[in-house]
Parts: sequence; structure tokens; C-alpha cells
Amino acid sequence: MATEGQKVVLITGCSSGIGLGIAVMLARDEMKRYYVIATMRDLKRKDKLVEAAGDAYGRTLSLLTLDVCSDESVKQCVDSIKDRHIDILINNAGVGLVGPVEGLSMEDMKQVFETNFFGAVRMIKEVMPDMKRRRSGHIIVISSVMGLQGVTFNDVYSASKFAIEGFCESLAIQLLKFNVTLSMIEPGPVHTEFEMKMIADVSKKEFAGTDAETLQHFRTYYLPSAVNIFQGLGQRPKDIAKVTKKVIESPRPQFHNLTNPLYTPIVALKYADETGNLSVHTFYHMLYNLGGVMDVSVRLMKCLTCGCLRRQTISPV
Ligand SMILES: NC(=O)c1ccc[n+]([C@@H]2O[C@H](COP(=O)([O-])OP(=O)(O)OC[C@H]3O[C@@H](n4cnc5c(N)ncnc54)[C@H](OP(=O)(O)O)[C@@H]3O)[C@@H](O)[C@H]2O)c1
Ligand SMILES: *[C@@H]1O[C@H](CO)[C@@H](O)[C@H](O)[C@H]1NC(C)=O
Ligand SMILES: *[C@@H]1O[C@H](CO)[C@@H](O)[C@H](O)[C@H]1NC(C)=O
Ligand SMILES: *[C@@H]1O[C@H](CO)[C@@H](O)[C@H](O)[C@H]1NC(C)=O
Repeated sequence: MATEGQKVVLITGCSSGIGLGIAVMLARDEMKRYYVIATMRDLKRKDKLVEAAGDAYGRTLSLLTLDVCSDESVKQCVDSIKDRHIDILINNAGVGLVGPVEGLSMEDMKQVFETNFFGAVRMIKEVMPDMKRRRSGHIIVISSVMGLQGVTFNDVYSASKFAIEGFCESLAIQLLKFNVTLSMIEPGPVHTEFEMKMIADVSKKEFAGTDAETLQHFRTYYLPSAVNIFQGLGQRPKDIAKVTKKVIESPRPQFHNLTNPLYTPIVALKYADETGNLSVHTFYHMLYNLGGVMDVSVRLMKCLTCGCLRRQTISPV
């Protein structure tokens, strides 16, 4: 049970990765300012979290079952919390999906939206009314750099993150009136199970219905560069947890929070050319002219930090 003065934090998707990292960092706060309700859809997956939490488990960290895709599960979980009082809601649960659109089932695409978009919306819908009534609260969404810039072969995942960005950008305006804050955290690549799940998924899928040329682009250009970018630029869940804690503790939290400063130029491209041409051609150049070779990450950064920001240096396509 939370003690007087402690902030109650509910986090979704804590069985691994970023959610686990945030839960542990907040629960182990030296000043014990947080009471963390770490949730996951299947408590059988709790061991890694319990181990990482150490003696915080049972003190400043407790576990509850919550599946963001189920109305009943969400309601049951929130109803079981004392006075339904949540000071900070962290929407972290999410799934990825990569591959050529022609080779993905509509069902798989809907599942991504069901989790990444409707899952966060379902949580916010359940928790926000109490926050508004109390004139206090902070809602955080673990979005992605891909919620600000689309990336080839991540079309549907990126769209799901754009969707939640648009939803929150709209909602934040109203919430300001109720003294409730909304913050987006936008990580670049992070070493979690996400990465492994992506590789495992791609190796077992055939992407039936996709032409050979597209498949070749996907396998020989995109995949090696994605793996390379993860290796070269990947952050740790701990890094994302640190940024999240900073955002929570900031007296004036910002709406956007990129966790990896190396990605700032990607977003800058968008605003540097309002026609969108610059972004599209830069990413084309990165994938097809620089991609599929070693050290893509180094080239990527060189490209982003100098060359490609100057329109004329982009090779004609
Ligand atoms: N890793 C990256 O490169 C990266 C970059 C930018 C943003 N993100 C975002 O960060 C968030 C966390 O991802 P991660 O990297 O930590 O991946 P992860 O290690 O795969 O963790 C994802 C978590 O979400 C949970 N989850 C999935 N569906 C759920 C549902 N219906 N209800 C409740 N929980 C559910 C998973 O639970 P199970 O164990 O039950 O599957 C798992 O705990 C996601 O929103 C992701 O989009 C990740
Ligand atoms: C607004 O929220 C903050 C943080 O939750 C709280 O400290 C402050 O008292 C609230 N202000 C009003 C006017 O309710
Ligand atoms: C978001 O928050 C982090 C941590 O406080 C900060 O470093 C960053 O500059 C913020 N904003 C953006 C746009 O990244
Ligand atoms: C977009 O940029 C590319 C590369 O610089 C150029 O070749 C193309 O003509 C531009 N298209 C438009 C519509 O401006």
C-alpha cells in the first residue's frame, strides 16, 4: 500500500524491456517517492521483474495483472487499486511489426493498433476522469521516434505510433485546463526483447504475396541496416527509464521527449522542409545508397548531421 506523500505509478507491460526498467528505477528511488504498480498481462512472466526489483518488491513495488487489449482486465485492475487513485500512468505496453505491407495479414496489422493505439487509449479513458476530478495527474506514453517520422517496412507500427501521438497532442490541450499533464517519450532503438521478437518473427514469416524485388529490398537493404542501427545506436532500458524519471520529476514537463539526441536531426528534417520531400528523399538515400553495407549507423549519423541537411547534396533518385 502506498504511504502518505508517495505517488502511485501504474505502468503497463512490465514483464520485460522498457516497462521493467522504468518500474525498477522508480521503485528503487532513494527517497521512496513512488509506489509502483507494475502490471503485465501474464503474471507467469514476473520473475525477471521481481529479481531486478530486489527488496523493493513487496515494499515500493507491487504486481497486478493487466491486458491493455481487454476492457474487463483494465477495469478490474484499476478498480482493485485503493480509491482508484493513480498519480502517474505510464503507457508502455506495445508490439512491433516489420515487413512489406503486401505480405502482412490485416489481422496482424489490427493487433498492432489494438495494442499500441487502442491499448493506450483504453488505459487513458479509464484513468483520466479521476485525474481530471482531482485536478492532478501525469499521463506518459512510451511512443517512438517512429511516431514522428515514418520508417520503411515499419509502415503499420509507425502508423500506430503516429496515431497515439495525434491522439495525445489533441488531448493534452484539454487536459491543461484540468491541471493534468501529458508527455510523450520517443526512444530510438532500445535493446529489449522487442528486437529479438522482430528478428524471430521475420525469420519465420514468408510474406506470401510479396514480389521478389520487394522481398529482396527488405532482406538485403532494410534488415541488415536495421540490425546495424540497433547495434550502433541502441540504448538500454535504463536510459529510457532515466529520461522518464526526469520527465516525471520536471516541474514543467515537455510534450515531446526524444531519449536519443542523435535522432534530433531526423525530426529536424521534417520541419526544415514543409513539403515533405526532404524527409522522403533523405530516407530513400539512406536505405538504397548507404544501406545494406556495414557501418550504416556511422554513415547514417554523418548523413544526418551534415550532408543530407543540405538539400543539394542529396543524390538525385
Ligand atoms: N525496443 C525499441 O527499440 C523501442 C523503440 C521505441 C519505442 N519502443 C516502445 O517501447 C515500449 C516497450 O517495448 P520494449 O522495447 O520494452 O519491448 P518488450 O521487451 O517486447 O516489452 C513489451 C512489453 O509489452 C507487453 N505487452 C504486449 N502486449 C500487451 C498487452 N496486450 N497487454 C499488456 N502488456 C502487453 C509485453 O508483455 P508480454 O511479455 O506478455 O508479451 C512486454 O511486457 C513499446 O510501446 C514499444 O513500442 C521500443
Ligand atoms: C496541479 O498539479 C500539481 C502536480 O500534481 C499539484 O502539485 C498542484 O497542486 C496542482 N494545482 C492545482 C491548482 O490543483
Ligand atoms: C525531454 O526530456 C529529456 C529529459 O528531461 C530532455 O533531455 C529532452 O531535451 C526533452 N525534450 C526533447 C524534445 O527531447
Ligand atoms: C525532391 O527532392 C529530390 C532530391 O533533391 C529532387 O530530385 C526532386 O525533384 C524534388 N521534388 C520536388 C517535388 O521538389
